Amino acid sequence: MALLLAEGCTKDKTPVNDFTITPYNLIIPQGFPPMPIPAYNPTSVEGVALGRKLYYDPILSMNARSCSSCHFQELSFSVPIIGPTGNNVLPHINLGWKSNYLWFGGEHQLDHIPLADLAEGNVFLNTNNDTLLERLKNHPQYPELFENAFGIDITEVSMQDRHHYISYALAQFLRTLISANSRFDQYTRHEIQLSPSEINGYIIFNTEKGDCFHCHGSALFTDNEPRNNGNDSIFTGNNQGRFIVTNDSNDMGKFISSTLRNIELTAPYMHDARFATLEEVVEFYNSGVKRSPTVDPIMTKPGKEYGLQLTQQEKDDLVAFLKTLTDTSYITNPAFTNPN
Ligand code: HEC
Ligand code: HEC
Repeated sequence: MALLLAEGCTKDKTPVNDFTITPYNLIIPQGFPPMPIPAYNPTSVEGVALGRKLYYDPILSMNARSCSSCHFQELSFSVPIIGPTGNNVLPHINLGWKSNYLWFGGEHQLDHIPLADLAEGNVFLNTNNDTLLERLKNHPQYPELFENAFGIDITEVSMQDRHHYISYALAQFLRTLISANSRFDQYTRHEIQLSPSEINGYIIFNTEKGDCFHCHGSALFTDNEPRNNGNDSIFTGNNQGRFIVTNDSNDMGKFISSTLRNIELTAPYMHDARFATLEEVVEFYNSGVKRSPTVDPIMTKPGKEYGLQLTQQEKDDLVAFLKTLTDTSYITNPAFTNPN
């Protein structure tokens, strides 16, 4: 549970005023809501460049890992392994719009998430703070890059502040990871046509027939809320979901609804990677939903007593539609690659 033990409750830094940063022009795609950005960490060209460099750099780690060791751009910044929390690695896509982070929704501020990774001895990076400070002091670029991004001397600030500035730079980079150019987006912009099967899948997704849109709706393809989608009826270990962070029995088995953007690239599926393919996921929603006191009422509403009862063709159509959410320009975007 290392990620949940963030030092995030410490006070946030106020930006230093006597230096200038170049505002980074985040382009919000049509149909997306405004992106909430905290006043203490405005997005700048300098901060994003620093965050991107840190993201790919094992300098933070004693076990030669970097963020990119578990978050591969070509897989929408995920990787098909179970991570140290015992959960599937979450992708990075449109993270700037989330308000509930991690599978259990235990963190609410993107700017604080890397703090947990940097905690001394954390299994993710196994950071050692003395070594980190030495490395930064001896580095030909980082002191200047931090100075340019935050107006501070990264080697002089306290360890806790150092973690905050590193975390803020990483968050600034993560906010630029915006995806809105899937074939589905191109279709909504009237640039391409979808096949009849894909369109039928979209209709199933967006109507009571498949009922997916309630939790995976809007331009972000998630409502970003904790929900129990009926994966289990008996809850042990990580399958207890959000209950683990709130201890509230109403949260038993709830997980933050996943975004379905780039879902084709992020197999295996669900927090515990229980399904290998999208076909298996669709069959689960069609015939495998389990009842429990916290199961979302949408999953068991009248008419669903015997599952969705989709035909094979309809299941194929739904999968075909999900694959239209793949954004190949995102996974090859040169602005997101390793700059080192
Ligand atoms: C050892 C593998 C590993 C490394 C290294 C790693 N991550 Fe992750 N990351 C994960 C896993 C696993 C999760 C999901 C954890 C959970 O919710 O249980 C995750 C989740 C996240 C999330 C939350 C995404 C969401 O949708 O809520 C962010 C943000 C994130 N990582 C950023 C980073 C950054 C920045 C770094 C480098 C400082 C990093 N990660 C290093 C495996 C890793
Ligand atoms: C009641 C809300 C709800 C409804 C309705 C719903 N889902 Fe989900 N979905 C979730 C939640 C919550 C998760 C994450 C559950 C977990 O990891 O245990 C999820 C996970 C998924 C995943 C795996 C995501 C990943 O990153 O591993 C896919 C794919 C998916 N849903 C597709 C669909 C489809 C297709 C439909 C309609 C047939 C649908 N969902 C209906 C809430 C819902």
